[in-house]
Amino acid sequence: MHLVNVNDALSKEEQYLSLLPQIEALCEGEQDIIANLSNIAALLKQQFNWWWIGFYFVKNNELVLGPFQGPVACTRIQFGKGVCGTSWQNKSSIIVDDVEQFPGHIACSSQSKSEIVIPIIKNNEVIAVIDVDSEHLSHFDDTDEKYLTKLSEYISGFF
Ligand code: SME
Repeated sequence: MHLVNVNDALSKEEQYLSLLPQIEALCEGEQDIIANLSNIAALLKQQFNWWWIGFYFVKNNELVLGPFQGPVACTRIQFGKGVCGTSWQNKSSIIVDDVEQFPGHIACSSQSKSEIVIPIIKNNEVIAVIDVDSEHLSHFDDTDEKYLTKLSEYISGFF
């Protein structure tokens, strides 16, 4: 397995453009979802040094923690609760510049200041979400949403 180092000096968009084909190469030939999502979380954490990056799966009508990188997180989130449960309910991405201003935000870590959640959709149903937390305010923007959405579309093919 040969991963090319992605230069931090590149723009965020260039970093995503370089990473996404590498993610596809990394997962090629491996069918196991947990194995692939674990490596995806590791690669993104390594590149962007986010506070927390991980996946929650819809299981029996709640979100259950999946592969992640970062501090210990809450294991279950109810439909419509927190940023993740709201993204699931709305079937849409959410960028939160300041988590303290988001009603019902679920604080897994007091260090987390801003957040982005992207739903992973298959057959018009949310089957999982990608959740990314930053220890900086207003860390995520349209570029993150654009490329994490491309990633979620790719991951949807795993299910
Ligand atoms: N803050 C999220 C909960 C998950 S943790 O951030 C890992 C939320 O409000 O849904």
